[in-house]
Amino acid sequence: MKDLFEKIKANRGPIGMHAKQSHGYFTFPKLEGDVGPRMIFRNKERLNWSLNNYLGLANHAEVRKADADAAAQFGFALPMGARMMSGNSDLHEQLEAELSSFVQKEDTILCNFGYQAIVSAIDCLVDRHDVIVYDAESHACILDGVRLHMGKRYVFKHNDIEDCTKQLQRATKLAEEQNGSILLITEGVFGMRGDQGKLKEIVELKKKFNFRLFVDDAHGIGTMGATGGGTGQEQGCQAGIDIYFGTFAKSFALIGGFVSSDEQIVEYLRYNMRSQIFAKSLPLTLVVGALKRLELMRKHPEFKDKLWEITRALQNGLKKAGFEIGSTDSPVTPVFMNGSIPEATNLILDLRENYNIFCSMVVYPVVPKGMIILRLIPTAVHTIEDVNYTIDAFSKIVGKLKSGQYVSDKIAAF
Ligand SMILES: Cc1ncc(COP(=O)(O)O)c(C=O)c1O
Repeated sequence: MKDLFEKIKANRGPIGMHAKQSHGYFTFPKLEGDVGPRMIFRNKERLNWSLNNYLGLANHAEVRKADADAAAQFGFALPMGARMMSGNSDLHEQLEAELSSFVQKEDTILCNFGYQAIVSAIDCLVDRHDVIVYDAESHACILDGVRLHMGKRYVFKHNDIEDCTKQLQRATKLAEEQNGSILLITEGVFGMRGDQGKLKEIVELKKKFNFRLFVDDAHGIGTMGATGGGTGQEQGCQAGIDIYFGTFAKSFALIGGFVSSDEQIVEYLRYNMRSQIFAKSLPLTLVVGALKRLELMRKHPEFKDKLWEITRALQNGLKKAGFEIGSTDSPVTPVFMNGSIPEATNLILDLRENYNIFCSMVVYPVVPKGMIILRLIPTAVHTIEDVNYTIDAFSKIVGKLKSGQYVSDKIAAF
């Protein structure tokens, strides 16, 4: 038998094993100053492409004022307790009603974190007789929700409708035997590669199979669809999404999340979702902040238009310069390169220190060994000059990568 702490000390995990060499720079970097395209990293201003502040709301003057006024009026304690017991308010209900109309669903339940909302909603919706069918590249919170499920689950190859159909056939057989139901879970926009889930095709499958569709639209809310109502709206199939999830952590530049669906389903969630019954409700200050952001999203469609103008300039410019950006059809912009982890760290060090560009780096084990993704998130507050400067800098660093200038046997020292 092993001592638990000795076991942990011997194996720090796939990313944690690099903590000593990477902490504070490649991992846990500190970005300071107002949230936006220019932030301070290690005492120097950098051009920042790493935040999901898609619409630029984080530092909008009206948002900052609404947040400050709400904090002064309500603080962060109110309301105390869970919604069901003592933590409800008119403003919580107003926000739920406004979100419902924004995403074209009958009703909505607010949650404190997006991650918690997904895990808990999945847990609440299915029992051991039911079957879950889900996309292989689903976000960790979907995978954790699926892990809680006591019944069977079938995974389909990422965005592969043929395989999805096959898994639905298997699920149908089992659900019929067990007198259960099927929940199919996928994403509106996949946050790593930026490709949209094939929602329209999946909704079409309802003609052949009996299942309910749950869509995590963390990256799609505010960025996709004519009014920012999400990826279902974008693909013209929002009505076919039975359970719609959005987070406040990205376009809203806040914290919290929500689940929208038919009135009776949301009522069921309100009275049965463990993370909401047994935990404190979203602070009023955050609720007021979310209402202000929603008002601005509705009043200013030009924020989304600007986001897409920057997105197109960045993605078309990168493609024209010869970069591989995969199959993104959202603002999420992955730039694929080949190299080892030490090469990736040397490249990032060069990019940050000599070009003052800050973006996220994704390496093994998140992606296969030998692959490097530099992930750029354009926002409505970036400029075309930022785009051009970045593509130029990327061309230079990739030239160095290809000519072996970043080769090393250890992680870059900073
Ligand atoms: C696809 C997806 N789902 C869910 C979440 C979790 O949302 P939150 O940050 O609000 O907990 C995220 C955020 O990282 C995400 O990218």
